[in-house]
Amino acid sequence: MNRHLISAADLSRDDALLILDTADELARVSDRSIKKLPTLRGRTVVNLFFEDSTRTRISFEAAAKRLSADVINFSAKGSSVSKGESLKDTALTLQAMGADAVVIRHGASGAPHRLASWVDGSIVNAGDGTHEHPTQALLDAFTMRRRLSTLEGRRVTIVGDVLHSRVARSNVLLLRTLGAEVTLVAPPTLLPVTVESWPCEVSYDLDSVLPKSDVVMMLRVQTERMNAAFFPSAREYSRRYGLDRDRLAKMPEEAIVMHPGPMNRGMEIAADVADSARSTIVEQVANGVTIRMAVLYLLLGGETL
Ligand code: NCD
Repeated sequence: MNRHLISAADLSRDDALLILDTADELARVSDRSIKKLPTLRGRTVVNLFFEDSTRTRISFEAAAKRLSADVINFSAKGSSVSKGESLKDTALTLQAMGADAVVIRHGASGAPHRLASWVDGSIVNAGDGTHEHPTQALLDAFTMRRRLSTLEGRRVTIVGDVLHSRVARSNVLLLRTLGAEVTLVAPPTLLPVTVESWPCEVSYDLDSVLPKSDVVMMLRVQTERMNAAFFPSAREYSRRYGLDRDRLAKMPEEAIVMHPGPMNRGMEIAADVADSARSTIVEQVANGVTIRMAVLYLLLGGETL
C-alpha cells in the first residue's frame, strides 16, 4: 500500500479489499464494552481541518483514540494568512512535532498532495475542495458490502450535485476498482465537463434508473460552492432529482439508500426516506470510525490487532 491516501485511485483492488477486511476485524472491537486497542501507542496523529466538518473530523479523532494514538486537533478556520503560505508554515510545525500521520481537509483541491511534499508522515485526505474524499468512499463501500455481501456487479446510482462533490469522484473510482457498475444522475449543469472520461454511465432520468439500482446514493446540493444558479428553484430540483417515498417504492425491495451527510432534508432526500429502514445513513457514520481505524492502522503499520 502507498504511504499516503490522497485519492481513491491510489488503491489497488488488493489494497481496497485489505482495508475492508481489516475494518471487518476492527468492527468486532467496536462491539466490545472497552473499545480501545494499544496498537498505535506512542504515535501521533494530527487532524488538520481548514474546512467545516462534523462526521469526518469526529470519526478520525475517535478512530485514532481507539487505537491509542496521541491526537492533536488543529482547526484552522478563520485564518487570515493566504492559503498556500499558511499551509506550508503549518506543515513545517507539524514536521517539527514529528507527526506520524496528518489527516487534512482543505478547501483547495490538491492541498493534501502539496502537504505530502513537506512532511515525512503519512497524509490522509479527508476531503480537498471538489476533488476527492477517499475514506468516505471506503466507508460507503464497507457499508454496501455489509448490506449486499459483495460489490461485484452491483449497480450503484449516485444522484445530485456531482459537480461539487468529492464524495462522488472518490466513489466512482473505488467502486469501479471493486467491480461495481456506477451510474451518475444529475441535471447537466451539475455534472463536471470531464465526466465523459469517468468510468461510469450518466443519466438525466432518475425514475428510469431507480428500478435497476442496488444502491441509491443521494448527494447534498452544495450551495456554499455555487456562485451561480445551477437549477431553476429548490422545488424544481427536488421534484426531478429528490428521493421521496414514491421514488423509493420504485427501487428493488433489497436496495438501500445512502447519503454521506450533512443532508438537506426535503431537498435531495425526504425526511421519511432518510429515516426509513432502507436508509444506511446512521450506519455509514458508525462505519466511518471503523474504516478510519483500518486506514490509520495500515498506513502507520500498527503491530498486532
Ligand atoms: C461530504 C464532504 O464534506 O465532502 N460530507 C462528509 O464528509 N460526510 C459531503 C458534503 O459536504 O455534502
